[in-house]
Amino acid sequence: MATNTTDNTRKVTTRRLAEMKQRGEKISMLTAYDYSSAKILDGAGIDVILVGDSASNVMAGNVTTLPITLDQMIYHGKSVMKGVNRALVVVDLPFGSYQGNPMEALASAVRIMKESHAEAVKLEGGSEIRESVERILSAGIPVMGHLGLTPQSINKFGTYNVRARREEEARKLIEDARLLEELGCFAVVLEKIPAELASRVAQELTIPVIGIGAGGGCDGQVLVMHDMLGINQGFSPRFLRRYADVAGIMTEAVSRYIEDVKSGDFPNESESY
Ligand code: KIV
Repeated sequence: MATNTTDNTRKVTTRRLAEMKQRGEKISMLTAYDYSSAKILDGAGIDVILVGDSASNVMAGNVTTLPITLDQMIYHGKSVMKGVNRALVVVDLPFGSYQGNPMEALASAVRIMKESHAEAVKLEGGSEIRESVERILSAGIPVMGHLGLTPQSINKFGTYNVRARREEEARKLIEDARLLEELGCFAVVLEKIPAELASRVAQELTIPVIGIGAGGGCDGQVLVMHDMLGINQGFSPRFLRRYADVAGIMTEAVSRYIEDVKSGDFPNESESY
């Protein structure tokens, strides 16, 4: 039976995530890319903070995740780490920094760990990146896998539609998930796949399976902070639950500020020296 025994003070480690799965406690994960947001998420008790390459979209305004660089991911990771005490911080390896060559993958992961002080890295893909995953793991760097819709391959897929609906793709996904567990990954993200398939993978694997658009049968859930807070209004897939209208709150506050500046109401005497 699922329990919620979240300890809001104890540091979250990869080992703790495994224990959470064992006792049926769901894992909460959100993205963050900067110090101030990370501090709020950590203070609220989030288990895992992902410094996702979705920063390319929501921070830099790119259409895809492809343009973000390793240096930029390190910058975001470093900023997030300064705001976090409890959550486990995972940084995405960006497109082009790990796919071609295991030694380059290791060098990229080492840079992330050394320069940002994050605690783990995430890579997209299964058997195609096997050697890179092995090489990174051999250096003692925890790896989180990512299967299903893998946005770094958008130019191959051509769409952001649900993945693995067909049997052949579902079979490959299951095999890849097993492989990632065998290699020693500490968790796997499953993005935008049928709930039944995700549930099956979560039941079969002993490592935590974190879903995004993958139904309620996963061991945890992840969302992009800008989407769930309503900062990014232009994205509303079926799987997204919006918990706030931060864009609305900001627009209203900024409008009032503009009005106050224009009318001369701000600053008043008590706000002056
Ligand atoms: O970059 C990201 O935000 C991600 C999540 C969608 C899982 O990889």
